[in-house]
Amino acid sequence: MKVNNVEMIMSAVKPEQYPDNGYPEFALAGRSNVGKSSFINKMIGRKSLARTSSKPGKTQTLNFYKIEEQLFFVDVPGYGYAKVSKSEREAWGKMIERYLTGREQLRAVIQIVDLRHAPSEDDRLMYDFIVHYNLPAIIIATKADKIPKGKWMKHKKVIKDALNLRPEDPLIVFSSEKGIGMEEAWREIESRM
Ligand code: GTP
Ligand code: MG
Repeated sequence: MKVNNVEMIMSAVKPEQYPDNGYPEFALAGRSNVGKSSFINKMIGRKSLARTSSKPGKTQTLNFYKIEEQLFFVDVPGYGYAKVSKSEREAWGKMIERYLTGREQLRAVIQIVDLRHAPSEDDRLMYDFIVHYNLPAIIIATKADKIPKGKWMKHKKVIKDALNLRPEDPLIVFSSEKGIGMEEAWREIESRM
């Protein structure tokens, strides 16, 4: 999809604040600092509409980005950031769970992992959650620019095995830095709209 028109329309923490125009939604899930906001920016061709940071924990609310009056990307705060209190973590869990399990417009969870590393315990828990609630998933293995192309296959296999990927869930090698995997990611998203 060639994106010309994007609007950040809201920051929500509870259902009353979600947008109500019924467009299909794609939620970004992933470890804090893995590159969720960068993924959105790359996909929509904006340098910094979704706020990114080298410091983890930048995204704190559900941020809805409306794309071309057709769909929403929902930027979700990352998990696994050590410096949050137990109560903050619980509030985070409730917010995410409420959104992911109760949202009719949600077409897929886009789970972002780091191509360089084996999935963390939190990555596996996140994916198990997706499977448990029978949500469609698209797995994006990002930061591919940081390892040589010859190693991608091997790293993909590690991720696939560690998450125990369902056969229907695509695993796409991606780079927000270089634009690798963008077309494939758009294809998967558009086929679910
Ligand atoms: P939170 O909002 O804290 O959960 O983080 P996030 O997952 O949104 O990560 P963000 O997009 O802010 O990126 C974190 C850091 O990783 C930034 O310094 C990005 O520049 C860097 N980064 C993200 N994607 C890539 C990529 O594909 N390649 C490289 N080399 N760096 C990346
Ligand atoms: Mg972010």
